Amino acid sequence: MNLPDAFGDLARYYDPLMEHVNYDRWFFTTVALADLAPDNFRHLDAACGTGTLVEKLRKTGWSSVGIDLSEAMVNTGKKKDARLPLAVSDLRTLPFHESMDLVTCLFDSLNFLLAEDEIAQAFRQLHGTLRPGGILYADIITERMVTEHFEGQDWEENNDGFTSRWTSHYDHASGIAESHVRVNTGASSVITERVYPQDVVEAMLRDAGFELLGVFDAESWKAPKKKTTRIDFVAVKQGAPGLKKRFDKVVAQVQEMVYAK
Ligand SMILES: C[S@@+](CC[C@H](N)C(=O)[O-])C[C@H]1O[C@@H](n2cnc3c(N)ncnc32)[C@H](O)[C@@H]1O
Repeated sequence: MNLPDAFGDLARYYDPLMEHVNYDRWFFTTVALADLAPDNFRHLDAACGTGTLVEKLRKTGWSSVGIDLSEAMVNTGKKKDARLPLAVSDLRTLPFHESMDLVTCLFDSLNFLLAEDEIAQAFRQLHGTLRPGGILYADIITERMVTEHFEGQDWEENNDGFTSRWTSHYDHASGIAESHVRVNTGASSVITERVYPQDVVEAMLRDAGFELLGVFDAESWKAPKKKTTRIDFVAVKQGAPGLKKRFDKVVAQVQEMVYAK
């Protein structure tokens, strides 16, 4: 696994580094998925980073909360808004018991778990966190993401008032990708992620007790293809009869709202 705070030095630069990231897509999809949950439902963003999604949803009246392993990420989030309910916690040992109706775990956070049994453990914890009927919306990056955008690459970015230097390596045998990120002349931070095949993740979700509602290419919300770089999974804990039909409507809505050109 990663050292306890892989984002220790990076956290304060995280939001400007991720300025290009399309959080709106995650926001709109999460809002659409809420149609499947009961009224007055509770939402947890698991591995929330600096709380960007939590903040966006709370601005629309949701009572979302977030947890993240990195104290530095949580503190950076709280500097944006001290009222944000973000706490330090580990995906593998969550403090909730059947108290959430919708859980998101996005932007490769699961790839930071470097062994299959850690992901399996996280899925069991996420399952335990949800009330019956609760929905999980999670993503992973694929090997294609790493080979296309990171493997063997070395680049520099001019961010908002600072420069970041990135160097990436990928070990095909282990599926482990390592990126070294250096901001200005500071120390290098090492971000380590592991890629997992889609079928392995699906099997682990089922083993944890989830029923899969949909598996999508995150760029289109259509079936994943060879070229897919990020996969979205939507799963339910004890889905009620009729849920699949309601989910199909949500899929159509997401495709229309998020992906229609
Ligand atoms: C790429 S960031 C994504 C953060 C956030 N979801 C976002 O969209 O900005 C991955 C996050 O996963 C968190 N993380 C890694 N391992 C974790 C674990 N075992 N439990 C909780 N969070 C973890 C990291 O601290 C980091 O904030």
